[in-house]
Amino acid sequence: MSRKPSDPFARKPIETLIREMEGGGRLHRVLGPVALTALGVGATIGTGIFVLTGEAAYNYAGPSLVLSFLLAGFGCGLAALCYSELASMVPVAGSAYTYAYATLGELVAWIIGWDLIIEYAIGSAAVAVGWSNYLVEMIQGQFGIHLNPSLLASPWDYDVKAGHFVWQKVGVVLSDQTVIQSVPWMNLPAALIVLAVTVILVVGIRESARFNASMVFINLGIILVVITIGAAYVRPRNWTPFLHREKGWTGVAEGAGRIFFAYIGFDSISTHAEEAKNPRRDLAIGILVSLLICTILYVAVSAILTGMVPYGQIDVKAPFSAVFRDRGMPVIAILVTVGILAGTTSSLLVGLLSQPRILLAMARDGLLPIRFFGAIHPKFLTPWKSTILIGGLVAVAAAFAPLNFLADLVSVGTLLAFVIVCASVLILRYKSPLTERPFKIPLLPLVAGLGIVVNGGLMCALGRDNWLRLLVWLALGLAIYFGYGRYHTRLNRKPEELS
Ligand code: ALA
Repeated sequence: MSRKPSDPFARKPIETLIREMEGGGRLHRVLGPVALTALGVGATIGTGIFVLTGEAAYNYAGPSLVLSFLLAGFGCGLAALCYSELASMVPVAGSAYTYAYATLGELVAWIIGWDLIIEYAIGSAAVAVGWSNYLVEMIQGQFGIHLNPSLLASPWDYDVKAGHFVWQKVGVVLSDQTVIQSVPWMNLPAALIVLAVTVILVVGIRESARFNASMVFINLGIILVVITIGAAYVRPRNWTPFLHREKGWTGVAEGAGRIFFAYIGFDSISTHAEEAKNPRRDLAIGILVSLLICTILYVAVSAILTGMVPYGQIDVKAPFSAVFRDRGMPVIAILVTVGILAGTTSSLLVGLLSQPRILLAMARDGLLPIRFFGAIHPKFLTPWKSTILIGGLVAVAAAFAPLNFLADLVSVGTLLAFVIVCASVLILRYKSPLTERPFKIPLLPLVAGLGIVVNGGLMCALGRDNWLRLLVWLALGLAIYFGYGRYHTRLNRKPEELS
């Protein structure tokens, strides 16, 4: 390689970022504050609230799960404020990656960009599997239609307690009606929903935002049904004892780590800076309002669930459908499943929408091949090549990967991004005090410092194995940076070299 390697600690000046944003070859500016907020809500409400809530109440927090939601929401709120200041100040696609580039240098920026792949791409695969489980539950459980089990699960699974992979087994009925245990081939519905959403994403941001808004509308409507009808069945005695009998107060923190996944997504709004009509104002509005909406709904929904049924009797797989079916309301149970499908579809849509935009920002900086990751479709004005690549890889992961192995990894990766964003906003206040900040956090050292402590603490609650997986992923990323990115970065290159 003939090029000179870059300085891994070189920072990209904010002025350069803003100047670049004004150049040509950009994405389509069509998103206003409502569409951005809808994207945030769409990304955030998904598998987490509908599935993890039951498991977290049962195993960790009991009725105090509302406190777990408030604690995780508090950590996210601190990060959301930091995201908002940075997004209003550096309204450029790339989210935490771009903010780190301006403050902590190229190497940390690369690490965070690589880390965000866990949040968006691997998170999307997890959401697709959750979607598939609910679809199958509805078709088989509610409508009684039998599907081929070999096409409904990945071939292997991960035994969390034993810490190793195991082959999955499903019962297959042969033509003579005997049942044999066999290894499934793949999770076909999960792969198909990823491919369908990918097509919408390639066709256009406006179409994607409209599709998302309709999914969010259905989802929110059904959550409100759950809250209103569920409230009539709440028995306050189910809220005592308030803490989990075995876990006590520790369960509140462990529960917060477990349900953190439910909050992931509001930050994805910062990846749409380039498609926002008025990014300096609307990104902050979208981030803060969508987090507020989700926190209120999560606290209400978890209070209703633990009030309707003693936490020791909660169905951990499909808690909401089960609780309404058990109360003799099968139609509500079906409606709830439809809402869950809409919620997980929008969560998937925004995850798959955000990932190519981060790769686009990295490619524009030369850290990834620009011809591929920077290609904008001439008609649809979307980063089509990388959208198709990511869609294909996520479909394969959703079809074959043992996803319980990866679920907590998604949380640990996102929390790392939050910690870096909180650090970045603090550093930038001192390094670039004069840059215009349309949204400025009051008491910044306190807010950002608490953000680092609370989100770092939640990372610790997720345990050693997840840290090890995160480190392995980051090591792979570092090998790519030192083998490719460092030699191709555009930072510090002279204009004649760049042309
Ligand atoms: N927050 C998203 C979900 O719960 C990732 O599905």
